[in-house]
Amino acid sequence: MSDQRLMGSDGFVVVAKVSDVPVGGIKFVEVQGVPVALCRVEDQFFAVGNVCTHDAGPLSGGTLEGHVLECPRHGAKFDVRDGRVLCLPAPLPIPTYEVQVEGEAIKVKAA
Ligand code: FES
Repeated sequence: MSDQRLMGSDGFVVVAKVSDVPVGGIKFVEVQGVPVALCRVEDQFFAVGNVCTHDAGPLSGGTLEGHVLECPRHGAKFDVRDGRVLCLPAPLPIPTYEVQVEGEAIKVKAA
């Protein structure tokens, strides 16, 4: 299934079902070639870049506590709402992407 087939005219791509991501869970998805960590905080979903700005750690392998995403490599922390750094050693924020939920479908716009 290519992203092209799933992409609406608004640029959003279906990446997962709501039931695919438990509360407090993080799911790796790729959106038009962009690696994304899809995070669930209660019933809200946040999409952020999957690559840590410290040394490219895969953030989807980290942990999520509330809105705080911790890198599995050296413990940098980011706020999934806006991508800002909450704890070193990450020097820069991570990108954030728009999310829409329609029924069971989670959509992300990465471009
Ligand atoms: S790679 Fe993420 S904290 Fe080092």
